[in-house]
Amino acid sequence: MSNASLDRVHVLLGVGGGIAAYKAAELVRRLRDAGAEVRVVMTENATRFVGAVTFQALSGNPVRSSLWDESAEAAMSHIELARWADEVIIAPASADLIARLAHGFAGDLLSTLVLTTAAPVSVAPAMNQQMWAHPATQANVERLRQRKVRVLGPAAGSQACGETGEGRLLEVDELIAALVAARGPRSLDGLRVLVSAGPTYEDIDPVRFIGNRSSGKMGFAVAAAAAQAGAEVRLIAGPVSLSTPAGVERIDVRSARQMRDAVIAAAADADIFISAAAVGDYRPETTAPTKLKKSGKALALELIQNPDILAEVGQSAQPPFLVGFAAETNDLEHYARGKLERKRLDMIAANQVGEAQGFECGENALLLIWSGGSEQLALADKRVLAQSLVERIAERYRATRPVVVSA
Ligand code: PMT
Repeated sequence: MSNASLDRVHVLLGVGGGIAAYKAAELVRRLRDAGAEVRVVMTENATRFVGAVTFQALSGNPVRSSLWDESAEAAMSHIELARWADEVIIAPASADLIARLAHGFAGDLLSTLVLTTAAPVSVAPAMNQQMWAHPATQANVERLRQRKVRVLGPAAGSQACGETGEGRLLEVDELIAALVAARGPRSLDGLRVLVSAGPTYEDIDPVRFIGNRSSGKMGFAVAAAAAQAGAEVRLIAGPVSLSTPAGVERIDVRSARQMRDAVIAAAADADIFISAAAVGDYRPETTAPTKLKKSGKALALELIQNPDILAEVGQSAQPPFLVGFAAETNDLEHYARGKLERKRLDMIAANQVGEAQGFECGENALLLIWSGGSEQLALADKRVLAQSLVERIAERYRATRPVVVSA
């Protein structure tokens, strides 16, 4: 696992207009050194000070400055960009930009993103010392602070305009240190998390199989959220067409037995196992070596039970913290409680499945149950839901597992 202080954090850097914009180029480089993935949005004024190409080369991502760039919107809409961000930092933030943010304007891409994102926002002011000291600017900054926007700096010293006073952009090192300090430790820092996701396919013959409707979206979102929470994540994926989340180690499997072998091998090293895969309960007793032909008669397939992977991990001598899913069409809580006990789980995430629910779709709702408590997580995008789930898992993990303090 990387020790970088902003490991895998998605940082959206907003660059405002001002002579200090050139320092934002160094900030991009240093953010990436610290492990962050960086996307840059410039205000129109910022583009007069530094070229977008500089930020594009340093960040490795396209740079945006307009809401009306159709090809950029098609690649990643501004809503997706706002959701993508774990952190928004605006450096430098001019007096004008601060005023617009303080009053909730959304007349350009950057101010729109600040209104749209759920990520924490930091602003690093840089301007002439008189502008900074002006009561209008101070009132605007105070407004932002009250809204929990972090205000980083400014520093005092000699200014590009020849004056001396408060209004200089903080040094790049100071900006990074402030961002790292503000984020604090992450909930799964130092932990190894194993996630299973997707369906399993049980082959009937070389061209047919028994599968299920799982798309892998829920499990992949859980893996991504666990990685963002600081964990070292291994993902055992059934056959799905999803890309691997950043920073996650992925092992692809097809059948339940392959998934079982991969999970058992990885579980011994894991602190937490989250079993989101829809493992096929049955498989054909035999797989025909050649394509089965129509015979004009009914075809009977003899099905035998697959191993219960989660239950097997639960029976090991020192199981990891175990989180199962329960996919039910009826009596959700009743069946989920049964699985919690039978499979010796620390927590179960129960979801109602059926027509346009649970499987395949982009949204889900989860009833979390553990010994002595429960919580309903309301219908939400699976990526957002996964973040809430991971936070609850981290809380329960810390509450039930003793912290080992080395002498
Ligand atoms: O992939 P998506 O399209 O996003 O859909 C998400 C989902 C509905 C698949 C997911 O949210 C979910 O509910 N996953 C578990 C599905 C399931 O198999 O539930 P179950 O109630 O049959 O199994 C209970 C638990 O035992 C699960 O954690 C399952 O991973 C595990 N299990 C089940 C059978 C088996 N042979 N081995 C297992 O380990």
